[in-house]
Amino acid sequence: MQNAAPEELIARAREAARFTYSPYSQFPVGAALLCADGTVVTGANVENRSFGLCNCAERSALFAAVSQGRKDFTALAVICPRSEIPVSPCGACRQALSEFCPPDMPVYYAGKDGKYAATTMGELLPRDALHGLKNTMR
Ligand code: THU
Repeated sequence: MQNAAPEELIARAREAARFTYSPYSQFPVGAALLCADGTVVTGANVENRSFGLCNCAERSALFAAVSQGRKDFTALAVICPRSEIPVSPCGACRQALSEFCPPDMPVYYAGKDGKYAATTMGELLPRDALHGLKNTMR
């Protein structure tokens, strides 16, 4: 999938939400990260009885992708199949994603009816210092 239509990427995220482990919140989430080489890496939220250890779908997808050697991303889709409204990535995920995803990268997020909002990483996490920092890193 090279230039994914948002709907296609959202469909992949919806499939991924089937693998959610969310017995505590009963709130499944799926995420699909489009990589520069056209690969799509997906993730679901994985909860724990120690609630603070719950992992969002976005970070599941991100960590899976980076663990496979993929670090260049071109789009992200997230879906909450039981939510009446689209839910945007949480603050922790915005920070984690910003390590790898450029500010102009599109992010799509959808609710149960599949209607989605479109934004960018830079809108989700503005004034991020990383890109300036990268110029100083050896
Ligand atoms: N969750 C996500 O996976 N991504 C989001 O963008 C919002 C929240 C998960 C975390 C937890 O498992 C459940 O949804 C309820 O907050």
